[in-house]
Amino acid sequence: MRVTVIGAGHVGLVTAACLAHVGHDVVVDDDDASKLDLIREGRSWFFEPGLQELLGEVVRSGRLRIAGDKAEAVGHGTVIFICVGTPSRGDGSPNLAYVEAVAREVARSLPEGEFRLVCEKSTVPVQTGERVAQVIAREARPGADWEVASNPEFLREGSAVVDTLDPDRVVVGTASERGLAALRELYQPILERSGAPFLATDRATAELIKHASNAFLATKISFINSVARVCERSGADVELVARGMGLDPRIGVHFLKAGAGYGGSCFPKDVAAFAHRSRELGVDFGILNEVAKINHEARRAVVDKVRDALWHLDGKRVGMLGLSFKPNTDDLREAPSIDVARDLLADGARVVAYDPVAGDLAARQVPGLELADKAAEVADGAHALVLMTEWAEFSDLDPADLRSRMAYPILVDARNALDAEAFVAAGFTVAGVGRPVRAPADGSR
Ligand SMILES: NC(=O)c1ccc[n+]([C@@H]2O[C@H](COP(=O)([O-])OP(=O)(O)OC[C@H]3O[C@@H](n4cnc5c(N)ncnc54)[C@H](O)[C@@H]3O)[C@@H](O)[C@H]2O)c1
Repeated sequence: MRVTVIGAGHVGLVTAACLAHVGHDVVVDDDDASKLDLIREGRSWFFEPGLQELLGEVVRSGRLRIAGDKAEAVGHGTVIFICVGTPSRGDGSPNLAYVEAVAREVARSLPEGEFRLVCEKSTVPVQTGERVAQVIAREARPGADWEVASNPEFLREGSAVVDTLDPDRVVVGTASERGLAALRELYQPILERSGAPFLATDRATAELIKHASNAFLATKISFINSVARVCERSGADVELVARGMGLDPRIGVHFLKAGAGYGGSCFPKDVAAFAHRSRELGVDFGILNEVAKINHEARRAVVDKVRDALWHLDGKRVGMLGLSFKPNTDDLREAPSIDVARDLLADGARVVAYDPVAGDLAARQVPGLELADKAAEVADGAHALVLMTEWAEFSDLDPADLRSRMAYPILVDARNALDAEAFVAAGFTVAGVGRPVRAPADGSR
């Protein structure tokens, strides 16, 4: 099937590569020529496990190509995916100007008499499809044959390729049998290999499923982070509380991980956008404001723990392990590490960080942030270590080696990811999230 993907980013490029991989004939378009130059060579402009290999394969085979312009892009695909960003504006509403711009550009190039399914994959508030359809109706030439559908994306950065080829579910919202048939045909190879459920709804319902899903997951994270605060004040251990809760299948273990809170390009903006859209519709979805507030506090709590351990930060050296908003991605959008690093620097600390892939990008965003070449080197002369991202390689760090490099043996584990017992045995005082501060029995620190 012929497919067009507009917006070759974290969602668009992965979607395009995976659809080409399962046999479709895919054309991608982006308004950033430098990204397209890389893609043309089979290279991705961002880090995502498995994407590079997949892209190389589908570009070489000719199943994924770059469109010369919007007209060529729109001329190609029966299904045209809109995958551009929908970033948050100051008031929490998402900026839908990119979606509108693409809708307008697509409309102007729609051919006469050939069906085109214009499909929102960007995360948008409920009823955005109506607006997209309105724009296309105003701009398209007479005789153009089109429909607007919604196909929300649930991939997770860090496992985006696997999530796309083996999804939990495929949700499509269409206005006609013809639109539904096009999306069913498109997803058939993926449904066959994964056995994923295919949920067909109306457009508004599909749009809402995405916002409701992300808001619910964010709520679970903020819920457990509030439980963690109670644990810290009562001597309970949030890891065990979460395990005990999660054993109830109605609750489930997932997304009950206390830490520095959620980040990334989706949860923060989607929670805000869902609250904003609900308000526009006359619904006070107050819990979502609390979810965002608790998430903000989770970041502040990390800085407070460092301050608590070191008293004044002026002239202190803090080693930071991990910068990306989660492991296996170089994405720094809304990463808790960025806020924490900025706050520590503002209080006069020197911050030396290491991340396997996101270091250079972070240093450009945070003036004063220094980088180490190796994880262990952030410990050199440090008064405290802060773990911000639970990259797997950090579990291999030797506590005794880190201890020998540091001025003070203090670890703030903002993800409860390291082996606290091993660090305590090496002489560290360990402050995790939602668990008692642990120190060596002889109080040596
Ligand atoms: N990143 C994720 O994990 C994820 C997961 C699910 C859904 N989403 C949603 O998908 C959408 C895209 O997110 P993303 O992370 O891929 O964003 P991104 O910033 O990585 O990619 C967006 C791309 O669109 C391009 N673009 C902007 N305007 C354009 C135009 N007029 N024509 C062509 N290209 C244009 C940009 O250059 C960029 O490459 C957002 O709505 C997001 O909420 C993201």
